[in-house]
Amino acid sequence: MLLASNSSSILGSGLRSPEEADIASYKENRTAQIRLVSSHNEVYEPCDDSFALVDALLADRTNLLEHCPTMCMEIGCGSGYVITSLALILGRERGGVNYIATDINPNAVKVTRETLDAHGVDAELILTDIASGLENRLAGLVDVMVVNPPYVPTPEDEVGAEGIISSWAGGENGRRVIDRILPVADHLLSEKGWLYMVTLTANNPSEICLQMRKKGYASKIIIQRSTEEESLHIIKFWRDFDTTVDEVTDQSLIGFLGSLLAQIPLFSLWRGSNSNDNC
Ligand SMILES: C[S@@+](CC[C@H](N)C(=O)[O-])C[C@H]1O[C@@H](n2cnc3c(N)ncnc32)[C@H](O)[C@@H]1O
Repeated sequence: MLLASNSSSILGSGLRSPEEADIASYKENRTAQIRLVSSHNEVYEPCDDSFALVDALLADRTNLLEHCPTMCMEIGCGSGYVITSLALILGRERGGVNYIATDINPNAVKVTRETLDAHGVDAELILTDIASGLENRLAGLVDVMVVNPPYVPTPEDEVGAEGIISSWAGGENGRRVIDRILPVADHLLSEKGWLYMVTLTANNPSEICLQMRKKGYASKIIIQRSTEEESLHIIKFWRDFDTTVDEVTDQSLIGFLGSLLAQIPLFSLWRGSNSNDNC
């Protein structure tokens, strides 16, 4: 979560596996690079975590296109890099997709607006805490939610502090904001809704997946990437109607964690064709 140095364009990530290099090359060739047209010293500049999240969306592009979302949402949009990328991945020309993004930082909302405008993407931007005020309007409507939350373990009093600190300050185990986002996601996601979220090893991603499993969600690690500073996991959650809460026992947890780990090398299977004519 180091802040990236100032650059005129936002490219991919640092160290890449062959699959990731492939995806990055795909990204660079198939989707417009997101230009950093605006910045602010109090707004999180896209970094390894942002790149990993967008790489996960690219890796899952075929599924996203077939998913035909009509409502996409980002919580904590920062510079707008992720929501703009998502719109470009889904195709600007495709009508009927609504984008909405929130951030608690007013400067982030301004920078996101400029990033979206520069790429011809229309989205509703809301200055709010997570999705406060949107609970009724968006309940059960969000088909794709993307979140790169403040996940760094920090002293509790830094959580929610004004300005750039709120970009990373996650309190104990980095979970303070994440644990508030999960029930909101559950409330806003549609029946077919998908959540893509960045987590760090210190956040205990397995426990997050278990928590979501208790709410009826299956999960999959789409990208696991270690940088010098951190080990990031991009996890996708979706409702699994075959799982009931009663089935989530300690025994199933053991099997579940095993299967979660076994999924890591499979992320290349999530890449696919460029067809977007299915909706
Ligand atoms: C790690 S940054 C990610 C920014 C951007 N999504 C990206 O990936 O580059 C986290 C963002 O969440 C915002 N944020 C932190 N706490 C929030 C809250 N309670 N509600 C809404 N946004 C919040 C921060 O202002 C920051 O823009």
